[in-house]
Amino acid sequence: MNHLLSIEELSKDQIEKIVDLACVLKKDRKSSPQVLTGQQWALIFTKSSTRTRVSFEVGIRELGGQVMFLSGADIQLGRGEPIKDTARVLGRMIHGAVIRTFAQQDVVDFAKLSGIPTINALTDDEHPCQILADLQTIQERLGGWAGKRVCFLGDGDCNVARSWIWASARLGFELVIGAPKAFQPQESFMRNVPAGTIRVVDDPAEAVKGCDVLYTDVWVSMGKEAESADRIEILKPWQINDALLKHAKPNAIVMHCLPAYRGKEITDEVMEANADVIFDQAENRLHAQKAVIVQITRKA
Ligand code: CP
Ligand code: NVA
Repeated sequence: MNHLLSIEELSKDQIEKIVDLACVLKKDRKSSPQVLTGQQWALIFTKSSTRTRVSFEVGIRELGGQVMFLSGADIQLGRGEPIKDTARVLGRMIHGAVIRTFAQQDVVDFAKLSGIPTINALTDDEHPCQILADLQTIQERLGGWAGKRVCFLGDGDCNVARSWIWASARLGFELVIGAPKAFQPQESFMRNVPAGTIRVVDDPAEAVKGCDVLYTDVWVSMGKEAESADRIEILKPWQINDALLKHAKPNAIVMHCLPAYRGKEITDEVMEANADVIFDQAENRLHAQKAVIVQITRKA
């Protein structure tokens, strides 16, 4: 692979290799392969971040590279310089880029015009790095995803939900998107997803029935702040709380990509009861992203 732009673009084999390598890298952080020696990478972020920014900064350094953080406000991109010009400038100076922004097309254009490895660190369409770390966490906790049923609850049309949909399509595990009509995956998007293992359910208790993993994300994704009040009102019945958990398998795990809004998509009680899993997910961002970079350098 030359880039990581989406889960959609990955094959089953590529996903499995990244997750396996992430587990190996996690076991021995001190002996990370120095695949980025002599390289300069840039993180270009036009949206906020804690986990993604820190895990990439640490990960790139652990792989022997150097890294600069460029917020949208710091570079001319924030004043309207087109992404296609930014890409051609940076492509002549740096060796790789990690981009968090709004339009997926910007990441695609950057990859094409810069000519350097490009990683999607979240767009409005996908959050591939998150899902790779989540799959690693499922592998560690449940021994793999084969035969497991995952339920994503809440905004079923957001970037994280869409990356889950592609993961299910590529890997073949069962995925339930539990969401009210207004927040179900758009038909135009689902038309491109192979039919099979994905079900959309608009009743919370029904959605979580028989699930091994319950997964949620913020109800108000970055860029959707103007819709906050409506989203919180409509999504209220979709909170992961003790009452809803009674309908899932007794040993089901609860996952959250973070940041979490307690009292909205998840209660404080459920969050704290599942903190080990949830903060493993956060930690695994580091290992999974290092694995992605190693695979990019190997062109595997
Ligand atoms: N989950 C995630 O991407 O977190 P950040 O927004 O803090 O990077
Ligand atoms: N769907 C969320 C994910 C945050 C990591 C957002 O885009 O804000």
